[in-house]
Amino acid sequence: MILFDLNTDLNNFQDYLISKNWLHPTEKIKSLEKPGEGNMNVVLRIITDQRSFILKQSRPYVQKYKQIEAPLDRIAVEYKFYDAIQNNALHAHIPKILGYDATNHLLLLEDLGNCEDMIALYRKGVVNKKILQKLIFILGMIHRTKAPKDFPKNFEMRKLNHQHIFKLPFKKDNGFSLNDIQPGLQELSMTYKKDAALKAIVKKIGKRYLSKGTTLIHGDYYPGSWMTEADDLYVIDPEFGFVGFAEFDLGVMAAHMIMTTGKKKFLKQIHSQYDGKADEKLMTQVAGIEIMRRLIGLAQLPLDRTIEEKAKLLKKARKMILS
Ligand SMILES: Nc1ncnc2c1ncn2[C@@H]1O[C@H](COP(=O)(O)OP(=O)(O)OP(=O)(O)O)[C@@H](O)[C@H]1O
Ligand SMILES: [Mg+2]
Repeated sequence: MILFDLNTDLNNFQDYLISKNWLHPTEKIKSLEKPGEGNMNVVLRIITDQRSFILKQSRPYVQKYKQIEAPLDRIAVEYKFYDAIQNNALHAHIPKILGYDATNHLLLLEDLGNCEDMIALYRKGVVNKKILQKLIFILGMIHRTKAPKDFPKNFEMRKLNHQHIFKLPFKKDNGFSLNDIQPGLQELSMTYKKDAALKAIVKKIGKRYLSKGTTLIHGDYYPGSWMTEADDLYVIDPEFGFVGFAEFDLGVMAAHMIMTTGKKKFLKQIHSQYDGKADEKLMTQVAGIEIMRRLIGLAQLPLDRTIEEKAKLLKKARKMILS
């Protein structure tokens, strides 16, 4: 596997790209930059004297925390997901694939340009109706895509996610220092870690997450995977995708709308606007679990809320899970 140190190996890297026919022989790399925030993979914007594109490479660990192992095959999942949904309607909402090197776990993608991910949503506290409509529409199209029979099971990534969504947030001695994130959060979390009825449902849905389903899902459908510029909307980063159940993506999306606004009405709205079959109860339960794990788990969001506001959200989430 090629692990260029791009600060010193730029010439080799340029030769590599030419050998793959990904650069024109006369094309020269002018500079590299980080296109945005990310933790898991190497993601770079390559700027040449003629254009720019994005390179994404998975490594056997989390790029930002190299001591944490991560499944190397995740880039293949991303490639196969994009490949499966390159149909007429969806192609306008995903980056084009420019190249893929399975041996080197490397994907070349169209540069979406001056787009920004939608993480700022939490700070704004409101969701644009038109954007939400588009997000629901795009998700429906993804879910209606017929995945090839050999679509990766993505089991290692699911196991990783399973730990962080369904297990660790609800474990008493999970080693997270929640009070370092916000004083009082640790105490707040204890109620839920001791709630046997709640944990039984979380366990059941966690099992469902690990079983085989019938619907191609994105697997990480939240503001960090949505990019916008003016009226354009793109979905990126499908490395957690697999053939599972639609309610997972729908519930996760709803959870982030609820965390953004504090309003539960988004569950009904998303469910009614979604073009497809979805069990509203299951979707509500997934949403509750997603809210909890984002508040008391390791994968925290830039969610600037008082401890009282978080207490309210957690209470809401519990009700949703027990619904
Ligand atoms: N095709 C693209 N065009 C423009 N910018 C992009 C593109 N792909 C990714 N980016 C930018 O790079 C950032 C990181 O990309 P991505 O989310 O795919 O990486 P990641 O390592 O999987 O991140 P994470 O750890 O959040 O899962 C994105 O948030 C976005 O800002
Ligand atoms: Mg990612």
